[in-house]
Amino acid sequence: MAVGLMDIKGQYAELQDRIEAAVLEVLRSGRVILGPNVKGFEEESAAYMGTVGAVGVANGTDGLTIALRALGVGHGDEVITVPFTFYATAEAIAQAGAKPVFVDILPDTLCIDPAAIKRALTPRTKAIMPVDLFGLPADADAVRAVAEAHGLPVVEDACQAWGATYNGRRAGSLGDMGVFSFFPTKNLGGYGDGGLVTSHSAVLVQRARELRFHGSKDKKTFTDIGFNSRLDEVQAAILRIELEVIDEWNARRARVAAWYDEHLPREVLRPCVPDGLTHVYHLYVMRHPQRDAIAAACKERKVDCAAYYTTPLQRQPVFAALGHKVGDFPATDAAAEQNLAIPMHPNLSEAQVQEVAAAVAAGLA
Ligand SMILES: Cc1ncc(COP(=O)(O)O)c(C=O)c1O
Repeated sequence: MAVGLMDIKGQYAELQDRIEAAVLEVLRSGRVILGPNVKGFEEESAAYMGTVGAVGVANGTDGLTIALRALGVGHGDEVITVPFTFYATAEAIAQAGAKPVFVDILPDTLCIDPAAIKRALTPRTKAIMPVDLFGLPADADAVRAVAEAHGLPVVEDACQAWGATYNGRRAGSLGDMGVFSFFPTKNLGGYGDGGLVTSHSAVLVQRARELRFHGSKDKKTFTDIGFNSRLDEVQAAILRIELEVIDEWNARRARVAAWYDEHLPREVLRPCVPDGLTHVYHLYVMRHPQRDAIAAACKERKVDCAAYYTTPLQRQPVFAALGHKVGDFPATDAAAEQNLAIPMHPNLSEAQVQEVAAAVAAGLA
């Protein structure tokens, strides 16, 4: 039997009646932009996260740009981030008018290396943007220590990590601002695009709120170049329902991960979860030098898998002008060569996990 990488249809089936009723209610209400569901979802998200507020936006990419703009980042500024992430992380920095400055990841967690941040600081550095990769928070305390020592804000790209925790605090609340994506494949996924910006500062929440509506305070006077970037009522209505089950879905993902940890061949590197952190496994990403052989064996056995960020951002044509050379980011390059995401969703059974583990083992035989 084929095993899919994700199971959007299965997750829908679980909530079908409630989602369809909620969507119909929105359609019949005539309130489709910035209505009660966006407001409700923002309040419920802020309460979940422990932030002062949250602002629904059209997608995670806009959310990152809006967060940077809210912090005053713009032309001539530099923002430190990682090259082992989805392109949107760095694209958002460029959209804000700033220059992405890449630093390597840690070889175990695959998240930003705090010591490398220190070495990349310049007088033009205006923010630090760690990424909670694949559902694991970056080392927020270590990042914060560097940021505070240099008076810099942290924008946490938590697009892949709804519900993950770092010493009891939620991903998305670990920096000055946090950003989520509700792209359908995310662990908290909508049925279209969507995003959220969070902050501990009422001033920054208000600024993000203005920026998502053309930068206007009163929706009549225009003093800034902003965005037309709102979460819509239909998505918000669905996300409110998913918010009620996300902790259970994440727990089911963690159980699947524990089965993988148990059943995968010994020589395969499992995701690293440092003490005090919880991983929400947006993706379960294993690593092995024979990644391509494993992927071929999985394909043969109809087990879906995918290698992520195989051309890391420092080697993408759009960033050629940054002048990076082979060897600049050894941990990033190793992760790009060795990673493989294998099926992960709340509905996988232990038997399916064993089937995937057998396919991985066949690739190593
Ligand atoms: C780490 C990361 N940052 C940013 C984004 C951008 O989010 P979106 O696709 O909603 O614009 C994504 C997801 O696509 C992501 O995985």
